[in-house]
Amino acid sequence: MSKLLLIDDEADVRYSIERILASPDLELATAGSGEEGLKVISKFKPDLVLMDVRMGGMTGLETLRKIRATEPKLLVILMTAYGTTQTAIEAMKLGAYDYLLKPFDIPKFKEIVGNALKAANDMKQVVSYQPLLESEDYELGIIGRSGAMQQVFKLIGQVAVSDATALVTGESGTGKELVARAIYHHSNRSAQPFLAVNCAAIPEQLLESELFGHEKGSFTGATVQRIGKFEQCNKGTIFLDEIGDMTPTTQTKILRVLQNGTCERVGGNSPIHVDVRVIAATNKPLEAAVAAKQFREDLFYRLNVVRIHIPPLRDRRDDIPLLVNYFIEKLAREFQRPPKSIAASVIKALEKYHWPGNVRELENAIRRAHVMAKSDAILLSDLPPEISGQGGGGAPPPSAVGVEGDAATTDAAALARQLFQWAKRDPKLKIIPAVERELVIQALKETNNNQVHAAKMLGITRATLRKRIDKFGILRELNVK
Ligand SMILES: Nc1ncnc2c1ncn2[C@@H]1O[C@H](COP(=O)(O)OP(=O)(O)OP(=O)(O)O)[C@@H](O)[C@H]1O
Ligand SMILES: [Mg+2]
Repeated sequence: MSKLLLIDDEADVRYSIERILASPDLELATAGSGEEGLKVISKFKPDLVLMDVRMGGMTGLETLRKIRATEPKLLVILMTAYGTTQTAIEAMKLGAYDYLLKPFDIPKFKEIVGNALKAANDMKQVVSYQPLLESEDYELGIIGRSGAMQQVFKLIGQVAVSDATALVTGESGTGKELVARAIYHHSNRSAQPFLAVNCAAIPEQLLESELFGHEKGSFTGATVQRIGKFEQCNKGTIFLDEIGDMTPTTQTKILRVLQNGTCERVGGNSPIHVDVRVIAATNKPLEAAVAAKQFREDLFYRLNVVRIHIPPLRDRRDDIPLLVNYFIEKLAREFQRPPKSIAASVIKALEKYHWPGNVRELENAIRRAHVMAKSDAILLSDLPPEISGQGGGGAPPPSAVGVEGDAATTDAAALARQLFQWAKRDPKLKIIPAVERELVIQALKETNNNQVHAAKMLGITRATLRKRIDKFGILRELNVK
């Protein structure tokens, strides 16, 4: 459950935003002024503040300054009417997370709030790197007892207390982001913000502006000034994910930040001093990119000050049973059920498989098997054939080889092919509604009619789940109201 505080002096605005954001996963508090907002913050402890800029009494900016002084990690989104963008930009310089222009485009509004809540949640969750399997209270841990992982833990501990740049490498799904977050949580900057930027997910031309900001008019579309993540995250930690995907200009700018702690907005000419720790990650062999002159050698050496390499799961198979246990426990907690037991043959099969998608693929496989299992025990038949080695002739299907691992997608395709064969043979089956209906029933049974969990399991929103329940008249069937 996330907590959001809404500060606005207009009751109508508070009311409509409350209605837009209403959700069972969100606890919402409101305040009618900056002064009241500050009081609510100390009691309510929100994860995110949505605040109007122009208010009677203390303005949004003054309130933001006070919030930053006492709660530097609390994310604040400013809301401002068009035309007062300059104030919003000032707010970003003060470390606001984002700003929204009124009137809102509702889907965009929800998306920004959703992203901010996720960032707040990521920042809050302490990633422990000394696996405490016995302890009940750890939320997120990096599990592993293999020699290779012990080495990783040692490095995390060493690098965390320094301010050195760290480069985390490893195949997709090996836990690079988890390691980056563990470094942050154990660092001297843990009371300051942590912002993650996925360099591969942002179009090339926009990445530079995302990181360093831009001046008004610096390129077509730059209608207002924008503050970049480095400036915004001053004193904090930036996680640059997929760093292998940056253009040469961005690389040069990053190098400059690392060398002398300054950057410039795109189109700007005065250096801005920033104090930011950089943790970078990549699943591409950067040495090869350097050799091919796609990645600056000097930047590579600068990033590579401390290198933490996470070996692929197939090279540390002794971690597999431990990870399986951890995921089973996690699922049990999530569904508030006793943990399912797991057959020895299943563990054996899991230890044998080559895990192209690494720990992420293992987690997906366990999650899927947990859903498939009809009893309290997970059996070999609950695993996809390429993992169990049953029915697939041993060799993994072509789609699973070398794929950077989304096991769920591969499984879904296999399953869909099979269903499609049935549909072709007998159109009377009405395959899509029939399958949808069954999935909803199974999920509700599995979760004891907990709609939030059932929707999550199926990858749909609760509203969509409700629509399906109504459409198919499912509650009658399950004998619940
Ligand atoms: N050692 C571990 N212990 C527990 N969970 C792990 C471990 N390693 C990875 N995971 C889990 O596996 C998933 C993938 O991890 P993460 O996102 O950190 O991988 P990544 O290396 O950043 O992958 P990508 O390169 O695809 O971004 C996450 O859900 C993470 O919690
Ligand atoms: Mg990652």
